[in-house]
Amino acid sequence: MSDRIRVGILFGGRSAEHEVSVTSARSVLAAIDPGKYDVILIGIDRAGRWLEAADAKKLLASGRVEQGADVRAVALDYVGGRGLVSLDGSGAGAAGLDVIFPILHGPFGEDGTVQGLLELAGIAYVGAGVLGSAVGMDKDMTKRVLRAEGVPQVDYAAVLRSRWRADPDLVRHELEQDLGYPVFIKPANLGSSVGISKAHDAATFAAGMDEAARYDRKLIIEANAENCREVEVAVLGNDDPQTSVAGEIVPASDFYDYRAKYMDNASELHIPARIRPETAEQVRQMARRVFLAVEASGLSRVDFFVSRDEQERIYVNEINTMPGFTPISMYPKLWAASGVDYGQLIDRLIKLALERHRDRQDTTTDRGELDA
Ligand SMILES: Nc1ncnc2c1ncn2[C@@H]1O[C@H](COP(=O)(O)OP(=O)(O)O)[C@@H](O)[C@H]1O
Ligand SMILES: [Mg+2]
Repeated sequence: MSDRIRVGILFGGRSAEHEVSVTSARSVLAAIDPGKYDVILIGIDRAGRWLEAADAKKLLASGRVEQGADVRAVALDYVGGRGLVSLDGSGAGAAGLDVIFPILHGPFGEDGTVQGLLELAGIAYVGAGVLGSAVGMDKDMTKRVLRAEGVPQVDYAAVLRSRWRADPDLVRHELEQDLGYPVFIKPANLGSSVGISKAHDAATFAAGMDEAARYDRKLIIEANAENCREVEVAVLGNDDPQTSVAGEIVPASDFYDYRAKYMDNASELHIPARIRPETAEQVRQMARRVFLAVEASGLSRVDFFVSRDEQERIYVNEINTMPGFTPISMYPKLWAASGVDYGQLIDRLIKLALERHRDRQDTTTDRGELDA
């Protein structure tokens, strides 16, 4: 048997970022060192179906398991790598996988759900755990944690969709009082700018709230970060993470909407960001604080607004615990500019995943003398 590390690349998924994920997986596959790693591809289609092994298929079809078989064990084995079929038709075999790289973005991928499944399966995986993923995905929870941490953010409010629908005029009046216009309206748990709009008055506010309410039961309304640059920092590590140079994105549209992110190529990147070195240093330190505050691990990209005036005021916008990972994505680009190339990044992430797994296993589930 080879002593190569068996890496499962989990990709695709149900989110709006399905394509980004597929492109990232392709790039990882092209760049990963075949001398060190045995790669098994695990695809999830848009309907959320996992590409499954012939055996598991039969089991599903007959609806029966052999006497004594533990259905839960079968399901978890599946994740653990036994019975998985890679896209080229070869299986992971009985040895299972050593680590999974879940290159999945958004809900059902980056929000702790898949991470929970991997925890149950007892397998190492790249990136944040259940808690960090869930906190990082929920913009309201992220903000609450960061507020407790004393990290600067724009003013905001969170409103449940049920409340908005029950009393839209009251909600609007309250928010107009507190935040004024323009405001950004967002579903609390999504990414890729899906469902996000900028409201300038009562009519666009109502339309924006209704639109965001299609995607989530909780909505975020934020004051506009006026006249700001969008600055991003890549973070890599576990308990003592490192930060990359800060980069800057200049969106092609009024704001960095879905179109500007994935359809137009006109958004400009500047690495390093066009801010003073002292400001860049503060941004990097803040990125580290944010990463540790939400208990992320492995990798994250932390996004900021930095005012274009003399003060260069910094506000945290959000953390992405599984940022886009194509070679032209900001995360790998920031590391490339900081001296870590794409292949090295993959090595580091896998190592960090295995380290974190060992660290977690180091925790006893025994109550020791309490049981005595
Ligand atoms: N409060 C704000 N002020 C100014 N621009 C904002 C604000 N919130 C969001 N934006 C713009 O909208 C984009 C998407 O918002 P973001 O919160 O990053 O959502 P997503 O998680 O979908 O990336 C940002 O990159 C930025 O261009
Ligand atoms: Mg964003």
